[in-house]
Amino acid sequence: MAEISGEHFDGAAFRQTMGNFCSGIVIVTANFEGAPVGFAAQSFVSLSLDPPLVAFCPGKGSSSWPKIRASGGFCINILAADQADVCATMAQPGADKFASIQWREGLLGAPILEGVLAHIECDLDAEHDAGDHTIAVGSVRHFESSLGEGEPLLYFRSQYGAFAQG
Ligand SMILES: Cc1cc2nc3c(=O)[nH]c(=O)nc-3n(C[C@H](O)[C@H](O)[C@H](O)COP(=O)(O)O)c2cc1C
Repeated sequence: MAEISGEHFDGAAFRQTMGNFCSGIVIVTANFEGAPVGFAAQSFVSLSLDPPLVAFCPGKGSSSWPKIRASGGFCINILAADQADVCATMAQPGADKFASIQWREGLLGAPILEGVLAHIECDLDAEHDAGDHTIAVGSVRHFESSLGEGEPLLYFRSQYGAFAQG
């Protein structure tokens, strides 16, 4: 059993333990001065129904977050099972991530990626400091889903996987 005491903290063991939490993956996108920006995130949560709020947590080293923040809004794109390549592309820092990805502009201007299970367009509502990450809260403005069609892309123990029913 690992314990956090004094100066000793095994970051690798903590990461490995957290890897047991299976989740879907989203791509957070925005329109920054006319150009698409975005990154892959596991830290997405549906936060509140009344009012409708969602949240995600960009790391302080994220180069996309300052641009998303400055744009004042974002779009959450929930990846489908066949979009592991999209996730890998959007998890790379710096590169022209949108060159190989099909997308269209949403009502708030942020990119909606082709083939996603659902998208949620938000205004940036609040941000909270949280260690080496920021908790970014979005106020939901528009959303659309594939209405029960399609399977999600999952992430578990550093690997991509698919949902098995039953
Ligand atoms: C499955 C998966 C989940 C991730 N979740 C997050 C996350 O929640 N927050 C975060 O800041 N980075 C997360 N990342 C890492 C970013 O996608 C990665 O650091 C990316 O390079 C950041 O791009 P940027 O520099 O353009 O912001 C995740 C990566 C993967 C593959």
